Amino acid sequence: MRWLHRLRELPGLILLNWLNHFWNLWLWLAEMRAFYGNPALRRADWLWMRSYGLQSPFDLSRRALQAGQLSEDLSIYGETPWTTLQRIAVAAELQPGSQVIDLGCGTGRTLLFFYYALGCPVRGYELVPEFVSRFEALKVRLGLKESVQLYAQNWFEADLRDGDFLLLVGTCYSDVHLQQACRSLGQLRSGAVVASISYALESPDFELLQRFEAPFSWGRATVFLQRRI
Ligand SMILES: C[S@@+](CC[C@H](N)C(=O)[O-])C[C@H]1O[C@@H](n2cnc3c(N)ncnc32)[C@H](O)[C@@H]1O
Repeated sequence: MRWLHRLRELPGLILLNWLNHFWNLWLWLAEMRAFYGNPALRRADWLWMRSYGLQSPFDLSRRALQAGQLSEDLSIYGETPWTTLQRIAVAAELQPGSQVIDLGCGTGRTLLFFYYALGCPVRGYELVPEFVSRFEALKVRLGLKESVQLYAQNWFEADLRDGDFLLLVGTCYSDVHLQQACRSLGQLRSGAVVASISYALESPDFELLQRFEAPFSWGRATVFLQRRI
């Protein structure tokens, strides 16, 4: 009878999927209005879109999970719209030239924003190999060099000591991984700012600067801005 239960859930799921598509279209229109006046960013985004074609990053991430490359709580994919990144950057008083690190950067679209819109050197870490290889090809097309890097690496084991501003979208992290994240972030130098989404960092090493709600690809979530003491 499990199949009957699943069948009953199907219309609700289809509706939810449609609503989510409209939500993401709405977010994308807002991004275009706000940022497509920047020709370098616009070109980078068009090339980024072409590099995925009709293949959704959500699908690629799910396939990596099914292939056993990832643990389930780390691999649930979602995106931060540029309008939300901009709001976070303003709240964090991010300055051009600051070293930005995206802790789990997905396809690397956030990296394009930090570099082209905000003038920050940026690097990301990512566990899905397909995202990394596509970004490498995109980098060649865009002629990007050392200022924008994407590493196929678990960020828990990365050297983050040069980071001025870090983004952590760990909405689906298990408690164990959240604790691991806090331990790894303990290496940051005093004054570095971390924006963590959905959860505050539970560590005496950080002080909370601000919290606010903002839109993400899956709906609204809380942004916690914290400074390394
Ligand atoms: C929710 S997505 C966020 C993508 C991007 N940061 C954004 O805000 O649009 C999280 C991504 O982080 C990656 N990820 C999760 N844990 C990671 C880890 N420990 N090291 C490297 N990448 C990780 C996942 O594979 C996924 O692509």
